[in-house]
Parts: sequence; C-alpha cells; structure tokens
Amino acid sequence: MKAFIITGPTSGIGYATALELAKHGVVILVGRNPDKLKKVQSTIETAGGKAIPVVCDIADMTSVSKASQQIISLGLPVAGLLNNAGIMPAKPSKTAQGWDNTFATNHLGPFAFTEQLAPQLPDGANILFVASAIEDPDRRPAKIMGMKGGRYISAQASARGEWMAGGAKMPGIDAYATSKQCILASALAFAREDRRLHYNAVEPGITRGTNLGGESTNAFVRFLFGHLMAAIPPFSNYSSTPARSAKVITRILMDDTGKTGIYFDEKGRPMDASQLVRDISFQDRVVAETRTLLSTLTYG
Ligand SMILES: NC(=O)c1ccc[n+]([C@@H]2O[C@H](COP(=O)([O-])OP(=O)(O)OC[C@H]3O[C@@H](n4cnc5c(N)ncnc54)[C@H](OP(=O)(O)O)[C@@H]3O)[C@@H](O)[C@H]2O)c1
Repeated sequence: MKAFIITGPTSGIGYATALELAKHGVVILVGRNPDKLKKVQSTIETAGGKAIPVVCDIADMTSVSKASQQIISLGLPVAGLLNNAGIMPAKPSKTAQGWDNTFATNHLGPFAFTEQLAPQLPDGANILFVASAIEDPDRRPAKIMGMKGGRYISAQASARGEWMAGGAKMPGIDAYATSKQCILASALAFAREDRRLHYNAVEPGITRGTNLGGESTNAFVRFLFGHLMAAIPPFSNYSSTPARSAKVITRILMDDTGKTGIYFDEKGRPMDASQLVRDISFQDRVVAETRTLLSTLTYG
C-alpha cells in the first residue's frame, strides 16, 4: 500500500486532501496540534482508512528535523509528499529560531522538510508544494488588490522580516507573497537538480472556507479572502473549494507519468509563474541562499 505525507492536514485544503488521499493509501498527517491531528486520524480511520499523526511545527526547524526523522523511521513506501501548511498573518512574529514566522512557515520549513526527506523517498515519488499566484505582480486579481508580488531581497533579509520597498499596503501580504515566491522558485530548482524524484507546485485558486488569514487581526482581510474574492469577478474566475483543490492535488500526487517542474493552476492545468520565478538564476539564488541560512543551524 502506498503512503502519502501531508503537512497542514487539520483544516481547509489540507484537511480535504488528507481525506481524499486516504482513499489511496496510508496518510502521514504532519501538524502542530496533536488534538486536531487525532481528530483527523479518527475521521479517516472511521471511514476505513489508515493515518499516522506526526507532531511538527513546520516553522521551527528543530521540530521539522525531528518529524522528518520520525517519518523516515516508519519505513513506509512514500509515493507523495504534499507541502501544504501555510499562513498569512497580518502581524509579523518570530519563530523559535528568531526568524520571520510567515517566511519560516511557508518557505524555510517546507524547504528543510523536503531536503531532509527527499534522499529517503523511493524513485519517482511526487513532491508537491502549495504555492500562491500572489507571488506574481502581473497576475490580474493580485494587481487589482494592490498587491506587488514577491519582495525578495535575500533569504537572510526575509528571515529578518525585511521586504523590498514599494510593496503592498495590506499588512502581511509582502511576507506571504515573498515566502510563496521562494518556495515556488525552489520547487522548480529542485526539479532541475534532482531527476530521481518529481517536484511540482500548485496554485489552489482563491479557496473559500479555509482558515487562511484566520491568524489575522484584520477582519476585512479575513472577509476578503474568505468570501468576497471567491464570489466576484474577476476573482471568481480563479475560485475553488477545498474539496475541488483536494481532487486536483490528489491527481498530481498520484500521477505516475514522471511530470516534474510543472506549476499547476486550480484546475490542474500548467500555468506560468511570475517572470522572476521563471528566471533560472533567481531560482538557483533562492535555493543557495536558503541552504546557507539553514546551514547556520545545529540540530539538537
Ligand atoms: N485559501 C486560499 O485561497 C489559498 C490560495 C492560495 C494558496 N493557498 C495555500 O494553501 C495552503 C493551505 O491553506 P488553507 O487555505 O487551507 O488554510 P488553512 O485552513 O489555514 O490551513 C493551513 C494549515 O496549515 C497548518 N499550519 C499553519 N502553520 C503551521 C505550522 N507552523 N506548523 C504546522 N502546520 C501549520 C494549519 O494547522 P492548524 O490547524 O494547527 O492551524 C492548517 O492545517 C497554504 O499553503 C496556503 O498558503 C491558499
């Protein structure tokens, strides 16, 4: 029986995907809240599936390292890894390592988790990153909202919570867009570097009914992302639901035709990343700087 690893399976897109993946194999549920993980496990097992909870705060690199070791020691035949956990808070905060929480949760954590697990995964395993089109300053919905795309200076600067000047007025958006830009660029670089495994990314669409932005103290931002954007054009052209995203994501994770280096849209069709992310030298710079930053840590 196949196994799948999923981060952030306790709400929204991740929850719906965990239930969908459980129809195809054992699901390793990676999340920060043990009680929530148990609930998801119980839902899956009541429906006849099998799930294994692994507690991990993806923003804390020590926790990431422990979780990846725990998963490797399970010795399961992993067919797919979904890096889904993500946040979009309005207010900045710091992680255990003193790094920007949004950048650590959305980029550094999944990057480190993937690099620790990848050498142990079977040939041909699919690794998928949940990205966001908010990274692209030319994307129509983002433009209308006054978003300015990723504001990358360097990995070090992002870890300090610093973004290139001239960004979005809405709080928390530059951190979110930059972190998503970095993980998307990394996914495309990994696909070029490692031909043994398959690395892809997905933009799930403007997905209502999730908790994204729930950490935000800004009720307007919550409302905007939760409901409004999914209902009115042109945003509704890109809208989705957790159940629909789960189907698209599961199809990509189950694919056995060797697709790699593809950025999928909310319907599972290939889409273009921003001009910057399509630049191979930018992808390689993000990966090199992220590795240098992570190498400053020693794991206990
Ligand atoms: N919703 C959209 O419109 C949209 C659009 C583009 C991209 N995305 C991306 O889709 C992904 C899923 O988002 P969603 O909309 O489904 O949001 P969500 O309902 O808030 O789900 C986020 C998941 O990530 C987990 N998580 C957050 N921080 C974590 C941490 N430090 N360690 C471990 N797990 C953590 C959450 O766990 P808890 O339950 O413990 O909080 C939850 O399971 C994210 O990467 C998001 O950026 C969403």
